[in-house]
Amino acid sequence: MNIEASAPGKCILFGEHAVVFGQPAVAVALEQRIHVSIQPIEAEEWTLEGNKFNPRKHPHLSTLRKLLWPTKDGAPALSIEIHGNIPRASGLGSSAALSVAASAALRAARGRWVIESEQGPVWTEGYSSEIEDTDAYTGLNSGIRTTMYHKKELHLFGNDALDLDECSIIGHAVEAAAQGGRASPMDASTCAHGGVILLSEQIESDNEYLYQRQLDMDDGKRTWELHELGVPKGGEEVYLVIGNTGVHAPTADQVAKVSKAIQDEPERMKEIETIGLIARRGIEALKNGDYEAVGRAMTENHVMLRGLGVSCHELDDLVRAAAPSSLGAKLTGAGGGGCMVALTRNPDITSEAIKTAGGKALVSKFGNEGMRLETPHCEPFWSPQIHPD
Ligand code: MEV
Repeated sequence: MNIEASAPGKCILFGEHAVVFGQPAVAVALEQRIHVSIQPIEAEEWTLEGNKFNPRKHPHLSTLRKLLWPTKDGAPALSIEIHGNIPRASGLGSSAALSVAASAALRAARGRWVIESEQGPVWTEGYSSEIEDTDAYTGLNSGIRTTMYHKKELHLFGNDALDLDECSIIGHAVEAAAQGGRASPMDASTCAHGGVILLSEQIESDNEYLYQRQLDMDDGKRTWELHELGVPKGGEEVYLVIGNTGVHAPTADQVAKVSKAIQDEPERMKEIETIGLIARRGIEALKNGDYEAVGRAMTENHVMLRGLGVSCHELDDLVRAAAPSSLGAKLTGAGGGGCMVALTRNPDITSEAIKTAGGKALVSKFGNEGMRLETPHCEPFWSPQIHPD
């Protein structure tokens, strides 16, 4: 008996790094996915792909274990298998996809206690935007995001126990923990909801509003309003071609580098604001289905990211190679290595150009399904004890 969930990778069209400072940004879910499968085992220790689980090597899974699978409360050891086709540590959201898929699998594996009310089931446990504030990271440490009424009546399981808001809150908290407390909710929300996700400093009335997220950082509190953009008209005729440099650069290091640059020279905040302006222009173009203008904004965004110091010559080479056959191209994710993305109507020609320039190419259509429970009717392995009233 196993429980399996999957989540897509993501690529960022506009606004990486600037979004950490609260500027607008857009990310798109990719066709490439990660699958996490879990199974209870009769053992003291978890296993990961057949080997003893090492929490220090896998901080994301280790934080998730603390949140959703407390061994001290009797949760059984698990065997975890991970497979998929999102390259790791390459700016395509593999860690957010892993966190979101694993949080869904763990939630399905413990089910959810609710009480009945006239409005339907009311959670007695879990993480939700409706509870307290939306600072996932600080909440994670203090535990304020979990409600626990001491009365439980109904146990939901399978798909009924799952909630995309919860998966993305947990995913964001796990990312923030891995990035030294500096992370936007962009990756986790895109991997959870799929499609095209817009983050803004304000609620955008003409888009489907999801929720607000907040995070206290060392240099102040951030607030993001998240929306689902849907695939804009004409989206079925354009493709994202990802070029992987094969150079690994941890996100936390790149985020810290930008933070230090701004700390050292506060006037460089203008560059962050300019990325915000370009993103805003790109968002308008996207809403109008004007993919030529979307591509131009992407290319301008790359120039700004280069100026910020998060590109590298391998990324610049692939961006240059993709440019003639695409509408626009830029690095995507934290940079310093990892991947670039080109928006193109000619995916084969753009892929060939990237390969000739020394990169690995992946093609994805525009906007894809979010988190999915692959075993929708599964029974829980364990559930937390009922507290006495
Ligand atoms: C990483 O995929 C995107 C960054 O903007 C970091 C973040 O949003 O947390 C670089």
